[in-house]
This record gives sequence, structure tokens and C-alpha cells, in this order.
Amino acid sequence: MNDFLFSAVSDVLIGAGTSQQLGDMASAMGMHRALIVTDPGIIKFGLLDSPVKNLEANNLVLSIYSDVVADPPESVVMDAVAAAQEFGCDGVIGFGGGSSMDVAKLLAVLIKGEQSLADIYGVDQIAGGRLPLIQVPTTAGTGSEATMVSIITTGETTKAGVVSRTLLADKIILDATLTIGLPPAVTAATGIDAMVHAIEAFTSQHKKNPLSDMLAREALRLMAGNIEVAVKQGTNVAAREAMLLGAMLAGQAFANAPVAAVHALAYPLGGNYHIPHGLSNSLVLPHVLRFNAPEAGQYYAELTSIILPHKILPTDPLEVSELLATYFLALAEDLGLQTTLQQMNIEQADLPMLAEQAMLQQRLLINNPRDVSLDDALAIYQQAF
Ligand SMILES: NC(=O)c1ccc[n+]([C@@H]2O[C@H](COP(=O)([O-])OP(=O)(O)OC[C@H]3O[C@@H](n4cnc5c(N)ncnc54)[C@H](O)[C@@H]3O)[C@@H](O)[C@H]2O)c1
Ligand SMILES: [Fe+2]
Repeated sequence: MNDFLFSAVSDVLIGAGTSQQLGDMASAMGMHRALIVTDPGIIKFGLLDSPVKNLEANNLVLSIYSDVVADPPESVVMDAVAAAQEFGCDGVIGFGGGSSMDVAKLLAVLIKGEQSLADIYGVDQIAGGRLPLIQVPTTAGTGSEATMVSIITTGETTKAGVVSRTLLADKIILDATLTIGLPPAVTAATGIDAMVHAIEAFTSQHKKNPLSDMLAREALRLMAGNIEVAVKQGTNVAAREAMLLGAMLAGQAFANAPVAAVHALAYPLGGNYHIPHGLSNSLVLPHVLRFNAPEAGQYYAELTSIILPHKILPTDPLEVSELLATYFLALAEDLGLQTTLQQMNIEQADLPMLAEQAMLQQRLLINNPRDVSLDDALAIYQQAF
């Protein structure tokens, strides 16, 4: 076994309705003035109503920054930091999807005024500490609550990441009742994204490790068994909880064994056509699985036995990998997601440009079990077309 460092958030509170204990938790951590980072949808759906009551019952003074937008640009981070500095808080609560939680992470660092956002892009660039931080996800997908990454949109089509153990939250609350209003298409896409996190962690080239493997297996077991119910019967709290837990476990897995070519090829789709992240992943996933099969077939076979526990699998890993690719294609169709780039109104003439952009994601491609050349990337997009 290779030596490895495994990092995770120490405290996770899980249970239906537990977000109503947010104030008790914040107070026990010594927070008196808390800034909640969220987006307008969360406010509109009333998801913060009960948690805010509990925060007030604990005499916390609150400010709510609710201007986060999906795939947050740098301006949102700056704006949130300015609002937080004016308010003067001693704790930060990220409450929402990956976008809100990613802004909350950066805010908890940047409010100190010691470094600018530009200073901390990349790996391990945060010099000081951060304010106490609680994360409460309302989507079951990114796993951002459990990762040490924050992803920010830096240009028209580009994103950059801040990666640092400082971004790991102090505490997480997983309350499935917050996710029951997630629309079916969002539940499907974010759920498949989380499944991809588990798969790519399990095949990660350099940092694959036994703890990430264990988390990835359990994440896939939970999500494969529940994604269909969560999408088709959104109010089923047990299925929602399994998805939320699965997404967090997958987040812990890929935080320590990073994702690879599926994400590298998905990012240009999000950047150029504003296709939601999970759907972008789903569109290229079956084709990347087929491409990787000669190198990762054994791993895919192991995962397929977890995803399809009642199926008698062929002995040839290549055949099992094909089965896995077909499973994900059929799953996307069954869940009502588009399955081809053509359906997304992407022009075939754009594919070379997408392949070039995917090659810029070397940070991710180096984790792939098989080397990906420019021609390979183009061929995968062509198959996904
Ligand atoms: N930090 C990480 O480790 C990491 C990993 C993967 C992705 N990301 C980032 O996360 C972001 C995507 O996050 P996301 O997919 O969770 O979506 P999101 O946070 O962008 O939210 C998308 C939409 O869903 C709505 N929404 C959220 N929860 C809801 C609920 N319970 N009911 C109804 N509507 C709800 C929001 O109001 C918003 O309009 C991207 O910026 C991506 O780059 C971060
Ligand atoms: Fe992802």
C-alpha cells in the first residue's frame, strides 16, 4: 500500500429535521454573530425558516447573504466578503448547493483580509486560518460540504479551484428534508455527478487509497439503490437521505483521491453551453468508461457488482465495463436526462474546440487510469455526440 494522507470533516450530524438544530450547534461552537451564505432559491423555498428560528432562539445575531448564483463568479465572492466584513461575524454557515457552500468556504478565509482571492487559487496557497464554518447541503451531488475544494468561475468559460485543508468545514449537517423539493431533473443530474465522484475516486491514478475506496463503494451502493426513487418519488425521505449520505461519502472519497477524465471532459460543456455540471458528466460518462476499460476494467467490474448486485456478471472485465456503460446510459434515459451532445444543441463543428479545452484540465487528466490525448478526447466527444 502507498503511504497516504486522508483528511475529512470531523463532525457530521445526520437525520431528518436536524437542520433545526443549527443554532444549538453554532452556539456550542462559540458563534455569536453568524453570516449565512445562500442563494435566492433557498430563501424562496423557505428552507432557512426553521434553522433561522433555532439560531435566533440561541441569541445569535444573523446576517444572510443570499446573492450566490450557480457556478459563482469571482464578483460574488468579493461581494459576499465585503458584506461579511461590514457585518463583522465570528462564524460562517454555508447553506445550499455546492455554489453556496463554495462561497462560504472562501468567505471564512478571506474575511480576515490577510489574502486576496487571487492569492489563494491553486493548491495549498492559504496561509492563515479561517472563521468557524458549518456546511448544510441542500442538494445531494457535489459533496462540497466534505471537500477541501472551492470552485469559482473566473472568465466566460473558465473555472479555477482553491484547494486547501483549511477549507474543510468544522461541522456538517445532513438533513434530507431540505432536499425533498429538489426538482426531478436536478436530483437526477446531481445524483449522477455524485456517482461519478465515487467511480473516479475508485480509479484515481495516483491517490487511490483504501479509505477512499471504502467510501466510494458504500456511496455507490447507497446511490445506485436509491437514485430512481429519489427522482420519481421526491418526497421519499429515506431515499433522499441515502442520496445525501452517498453524495457526502463520495465527496470524502474524491477529496482524497481526485476525479479524472469524466470531469475534465464535462467542464468544457458547462463552460461553453451552461449545461449543469451533473448533466455534463452524465453526457460523457458512458463513453469515458468505455475508453478507460482496458486499464480500469477490474475496478469497474468490482463497482458493477455493487451497482447491479443481483446480476450475474461476465468474467471478462471489458464485458463488465460495457455493461456499466450501458447501465449509465439507460439510467440517464430512465431519469429523463438527455443522453447526447446533439440533444443539447451542440454543433459537431464545436467538438475539436471542446477537446482542446478538455486537454487544459491536466489537473484532472493526470488522475485518469488511462492517458488521454487530444485525439482521444475528440473521439470521446464524437461518441457522445
Ligand atoms: N467544492 C467542491 O468540492 C465542488 C465539487 C463539485 C462541484 N462544485 C461546484 O458546485 C456548484 C454546483 O452546485 P450544485 O449542483 O449543488 O447546485 P447550485 O448550488 O449551483 O444550485 C443550483 C440551483 O438549485 C437550487 N436548489 C438548491 N437546493 C435546492 C433545494 N433543496 N430545493 C430546490 N432548489 C434547490 C438553487 O437555488 C439553485 O438555483 C458548481 O459551482 C460546481 O463547480 C464544487
Ligand atoms: Fe462533480
